[in-house]
Amino acid sequence: MLDDLKDKATEFSGSKGRLENPKELFVHNLGATLTMETTVEKMLGKLVEKAKSAELKKQLRHHREETQAQIRNLHQVFQSLGMEPQTSPCPAIEGIEKEGEANLKMADESLHDDVILAGCAETEHHEIAVYENLIIHANALGHEDIVPLFQENLEQEQHTLGEVLKATMKTGKSTKRSGAAA
Ligand SMILES: [Fe+2]
Repeated sequence: MLDDLKDKATEFSGSKGRLENPKELFVHNLGATLTMETTVEKMLGKLVEKAKSAELKKQLRHHREETQAQIRNLHQVFQSLGMEPQTSPCPAIEGIEKEGEANLKMADESLHDDVILAGCAETEHHEIAVYENLIIHANALGHEDIVPLFQENLEQEQHTLGEVLKATMKTGKSTKRSGAAA
């Protein structure tokens, strides 16, 4: 798997195979962000099917639509930089996805919404960190024009995290009430 990632990284960074300056690192991270959002978009589609509660299904569908808009924003960022959209590896999101899939296989169906919500919270925290970093570096590189696109994505992730945590507390309370935690 490591070799596979190395191959992908080489493919992205071209003949040099190394990131030599802040701009190259920024574009690499931007490509990883596009991989992250594309993976999340597909993941949310699968989770809509797996979720048990109608409310969670609705939330997942809504965030999937937001994620599609976030992908469009990232394409626009590449366009503003005068580049074609390109991807680079994002092993972090692959890891979160793999852990969630493994937990869904292990857990009883009655626990699936808890597993999904935990995975969503981890994803949102990761995405928030990614956008905060991109905003700082876009400003530092003098690309203030693209900051509002990152900001829009960041605010959606922060709002989604709040919704996910509210839903988690609700699910936690009902687990306690049913005595299933004992
Ligand atoms: Fe996202």
